[in-house]
Amino acid sequence: MPNNFKISKTNNSRLSQLDFDNIPFGKVFSDHMFVADYIDGEWTNMEIVPFGNFEIHPACLALHYGQSIFEGMKATVDLDGRPLFFRPEKHIQRLNNSAARMCMPAVPDEMFHDAIHQLVSMDKDWIPPATGSALYIRPFMFGNGETIGVKASDTYKFIIFTGPVGPYYSKPVRLWVESEYVRAAKGGIGEAKASGNYAASLLPAQKAKAAGYDQILWLDASEFKYVQEVGTMNIFFVIDGKVITPITDGAILKGITRDTVMTILRAKGYEVEERLIEIDEIVQAHKAGTLTEVFGTGTAAVISHVADITYGEHEMVLPPMEERKVGALAKAEIEGLRNGTIADTRDWIVPAKQMVKV
Ligand code: COI
Repeated sequence: MPNNFKISKTNNSRLSQLDFDNIPFGKVFSDHMFVADYIDGEWTNMEIVPFGNFEIHPACLALHYGQSIFEGMKATVDLDGRPLFFRPEKHIQRLNNSAARMCMPAVPDEMFHDAIHQLVSMDKDWIPPATGSALYIRPFMFGNGETIGVKASDTYKFIIFTGPVGPYYSKPVRLWVESEYVRAAKGGIGEAKASGNYAASLLPAQKAKAAGYDQILWLDASEFKYVQEVGTMNIFFVIDGKVITPITDGAILKGITRDTVMTILRAKGYEVEERLIEIDEIVQAHKAGTLTEVFGTGTAAVISHVADITYGEHEMVLPPMEERKVGALAKAEIEGLRNGTIADTRDWIVPAKQMVKV
């Protein structure tokens, strides 16, 4: 194995405790995880170990100043039970873009790929076979320097753990358009998958939940005029048969599912526009009856339909599910690629290969 990982296999698999018919999102973790340290300018201590706690110094920089990033990706099985990744190279690229923005070292491509292949091959029996379910893979990195001086850390920990998941949203979501709080501003860290972006959303999300909404649709931070994203998803609108999504302007996450959906829909003949979208345009399209569909895209969410959107006094209820074709079409293609029933013509699917038998 190129990276010479040390591998310690668990003697105590928890797999038999997993109820494959009832998997809550984000609460079940597979048997193993990959860990590595960045010390003196290089990655070292690369190891696959049983999933579990680790020690952290009370002055760990990430805990105080938020130097912490993550990725979210998925592995599924095809109909013959073979584990597959979906566009893994896009995730390491994005992780390293996030790392650059947050003053953190790059994760070498080879270490990342070797780690996910070995880890997922070892824990492949944790991959739920049901359509819409997957093994969620969570790579993350944080500065673990031990000082409370404000600076970029000299040392980092990189970990990848996995866990079986069902759908993130079990039904179409109700969105609240936020006109007081912001998620991210141009020039900030909104494009990075940085932990702080999610922390910033917690209070407004709590308020939106208390008012009966599932998620927030964020507007731009300077004028509260242009649609950004949902926070757990990028957003797509279908107006007059045309598919539109906000252009990523530095404050919006460059979603990999967003890119996948645009590519699939263009190939199916849809006109897809990435551009600035005023929230007033959405209100007008809804009034005119031309807003036929709204859906969000994300690794966890895949494609989740929007039930309604509330912006001030405007409550926009979207058409019934049976009338929505576009999101459903893209979702069916993604699911087909993920279970091998649709041929992969774009090299998006990468079979997992076990590098070392253990
Ligand atoms: C993902 O889609 O993987 C995300 O990172 C969203 C997450 C916060 C659940």
